[in-house]
Parts: sequence; C-alpha cells; structure tokens
Amino acid sequence: MNSSSIVILDFGSQYTQLIARRIREMNVFSAVLPCTAPMESILALNPCGIILSGGPSSVYDADAPPADTAVLELGLPVLGICYGLQYIVHHLGGKVHSAEKREYGHAQVQVVDEETALFAGLNTTEFTAWMSHGDEALELPKGFHLTAKTSNAVAGIANPERRVWAVQFHPEVHHTPRGAEMLRNFVFRICEAKADWTPEHFIQTTVERIRAQVGEGHAICALSGGVDSSVAAVLVAQALGDKLTCIFVNNGVLRKDEFTKVQKTLRDNLKLNLVAVDASERFLKRLAGVTDPEGKRKIIGNEFIAVFDDEAKRIAEATGGVDWLVQGTLYPDVIESSSVKGPSQTIKSHHNVGGLPETMQLKLIEPLRDLFKDEVRRIGRDLGMPEEILERQPFPGPGLAVRILGEVTADRVALLQEADAIVVDEIKSAGLYRKVWQSFAVLLPVKSVGVMGDQRTYAYTCAIRAVHSEDGMTADWVPLPYEVLKTMSSRIVNEVRGINRVVYDITSKPPGTIEWE
Ligand code: XMP
Repeated sequence: MNSSSIVILDFGSQYTQLIARRIREMNVFSAVLPCTAPMESILALNPCGIILSGGPSSVYDADAPPADTAVLELGLPVLGICYGLQYIVHHLGGKVHSAEKREYGHAQVQVVDEETALFAGLNTTEFTAWMSHGDEALELPKGFHLTAKTSNAVAGIANPERRVWAVQFHPEVHHTPRGAEMLRNFVFRICEAKADWTPEHFIQTTVERIRAQVGEGHAICALSGGVDSSVAAVLVAQALGDKLTCIFVNNGVLRKDEFTKVQKTLRDNLKLNLVAVDASERFLKRLAGVTDPEGKRKIIGNEFIAVFDDEAKRIAEATGGVDWLVQGTLYPDVIESSSVKGPSQTIKSHHNVGGLPETMQLKLIEPLRDLFKDEVRRIGRDLGMPEEILERQPFPGPGLAVRILGEVTADRVALLQEADAIVVDEIKSAGLYRKVWQSFAVLLPVKSVGVMGDQRTYAYTCAIRAVHSEDGMTADWVPLPYEVLKTMSSRIVNEVRGINRVVYDITSKPPGTIEWE
C-alpha cells in the first residue's frame, strides 16, 4: 500500500489523465477512478487528498455524472478543477449558471487572495490560465471565499476550514504555466503527501501485492517482445519466479531473426521462464491463398489463441493448474476518457498479443494498468531491462502479414524481412529510430521491369514508410533525409534479390493508415 496517494475522481475531462501524470512526476502516487467509484475503492487507495476533475457536462444536466458527495465530508483536502469547482459549488449550497459567454482558451486570471495555500509562492497578482467551460459559479456556498477571478467569471474559490479548494481553469495543462506550482502546493503543502512513489517503490509494492494475491497459484503470460508485455512479465517474475511461465509464439510473420533475438534477451538475459513455440508453418498454412486484410487478421488472431491455449494446457498439466494471466495493459488501453460510465467500464483486451482466450477463465494480473508508456519505460529501466526492448517501435500483432499486400507466403515473408531489416538498420544508423513512431518496409504485389548489370529484371516493389505519431490515432509522414532514403533504396535493390524498385510513402493518417492493410 502506498503511504500517501492522491485520488482523482474522473468526471470525463480529456485532461484527467494529465493530472495523474503531473502528480506522479512529483513522485507521489496518484490514481484516477471513475466519479462513480464506491467509497470503499476510494479509501482502499489510502488517499491523503482528492481531486475532482473537469468534465463536459453541466451540473444541471439530467445525465450529469453522479459522484458520492460523501467525498466532500471525509475531512480530506479536496481540489475541484473546472467541472469539479461547479460540482462543489452546486452540492454545497451555492449556485452555478450557464455563462453568457463560453470561456475557451487562454485567460488572464487575477489573484484575489494571495494568502490562499494553493497560490503560495506564486508571488504574482496575475497569471495566464487555460479555461474551457460553459457554466460558471454565480453564488458561492457558505464559508467559501473568492481566491481568483477573470474579467467576467469566478476563477478560484476556497474554504480552508473545510479543506476545500477549487479552480475554474486547468492547472494541469502546459497552457497554465504556473499550474504545476499550484498542483504542487495542493499535493505537498495542503495534503502533505510524501514523495515516495519512485520506480523502486512501485516495483517493491507491486511485487509484494502480486505475491500476496497469487499465493501458490501459477501464472502465464503471452509475450510479444514489445515493451508492455515484457515489462509486465519481468515485474511479475520478480514476484513469482518460476511460478510464471511466459509464452512467445512465432506466427511466421515476425521480423528478421526476431524469434531467436527475443528469446535470447528474455530467457538468457532477463532469465524469464519462457516457452518459445515455433508455429510458423501452422500459421502460414492457414494464411495460404488469403488476400483480404481482415481475413488475415482474423486467422492470425484465432490461430494465436489456439496455440496459446494448447501451451497453457500443457503448462497446467505440468504445474498442477494455471489460474492467472499476466497482461501488459496500460492506462491508455483502459477504455476511454469516457470513464464516467463508471466501474462497469469495458477494458480493451491487450490487442498486441492478438486477443486472448476468454474461455480459459483466468484471473487477470495487470501490474501496469495505472501507468503511461514513458512510466513503463522508467520501471523497465529500473528492472535492468535493455533499451533495445524498452525503446522498441510498436509492431502490430498480425506482424508482417499486414505489410505484405496480397497473399502471404514464406518466400514473400523472407523478402520483406530482408528489406525491413535494411530500413530499420539505416534508421538506427541515422540516429532516427527513437525519433520516429514507426519505420518499416511494405511489400507490394507489383512487379516492374528493371536492369541490373546487363540483365533485365522483373521483380517486386517495396515501399518505405516512416511516420511521426503521438498515439497511432493520427500520424504524419516523416521527411527522411535524402541520404538515408538513398542508402536504403540502393541497399534494398542490391541486397534483396526479388525487389528491384523502392518507393517512399508520403501519405499521412488520415487519410491513409499507418499500416498498409
Ligand atoms: P493503423 O494502420 O490503423 O495503425 O493506422 C495504428 C497503429 O496500430 C497498429 N496496428 C495494429 N496493432 N494489431 C495490432 O496489434 C493490429 O491488427 C494492428 N493494426 C494496426 C499500427 O502498427 C500502428 O501503430
């Protein structure tokens, strides 16, 4: 159990995750719960303070997100942000009304009460803040006073006796440059939180919790070789040792040498108890003759489940039963910002490993589900994991199958593996691997005429794709330096027999997608 945490109740703002992140950057544990979370889940996190987030609704809406007003009676410090302020005003007897002018964007805020703990150390009477609201507080509840205002609205209120503070703007976004100091004041000055949430502390408490949870049970984990599942596995292995078996499947559409390289890193270097299954023939047989992208995905997903299920049964026989499944689910995988749906929210299955068998009825261990990718990398570094895994670019579950247009055959996979290895190699040599989101080769079912030496050639075309992205939802194509493109092109045509033409994909997403299929 963390000695002190800040619980954020989410009313549906797009910025809620950011609040948690800002607080964790201060080495204080912070978790986001849906605003409907029952009191016992809130108290289970041992909070020393509560933050009520922003949200898109109006407190008067019929479907305004409900939250237990008992959080205002716990005696713990409360900070309301945006909708959180209106929620406090509304429920403690003040009045909120629809503003004549919706405030959205930068606003100049005047400090009315310089003594308020939230603004301690700011030493200013004015600051810039990010506003995004349609309602505003009209009458403050009894015991509250104004701490800040804009030219036309309430920007901050407080009732220090009741230990409640609230702001109409968003201190968590960069557009409120002094916002981080205000959050810091809330966390340390008001809540007196301890800055003990370090990767080391996270690892230690997670290991203890998993050990207690699993007891004598046995767990399995599907590894993809990517960051999330690898960090989850290494972390759980610290808790369970040999009582965790990891399964890594060669689906026949991995990258060049990936099956052996991943085994070497995970088994030899990181000492994971790893079962590596080479099922490539089985997958390729099922993929024969299939050209439809979704058809390929479905076959690979189903086949993966079948292979994983077979292995799990084998492991269960050998160990006397398997009860737990480890998944590398991250916070952004936990559906979606619309967590106002409440505790019944659906969880995305970890799609990198292709969806897992529900019929197995295993209990889930998801040690990373409160974290963001960069925090997972931090944990991975503390666990002694190599950068080669931690900084790996995303790779889709259906692998090279969605980068081979048309039928997937062993020959085509081999061709693409060679071309792709050259692309990645040159991107790394140019120092660009970590700067781009994904960079890879695609094999097109297009043959064209070329000439090599005195010979006419008639061979495949390969496309190079490199994109920048934040989250894979949108992406921009990267203007790779000509020199890098030139080396890639000449190496591919010279070294990969079967490809005689290289083109560069200059399509962003939208309207394109990152993968070609
Ligand atoms: P698209 O091609 O949809 O890709 O622009 C967005 C991101 O998702 C990855 N991707 C997948 N990952 N299974 C996965 O595990 C899939 O079927 C799949 N399709 C796309 C893609 O690599 C990119 O990062």
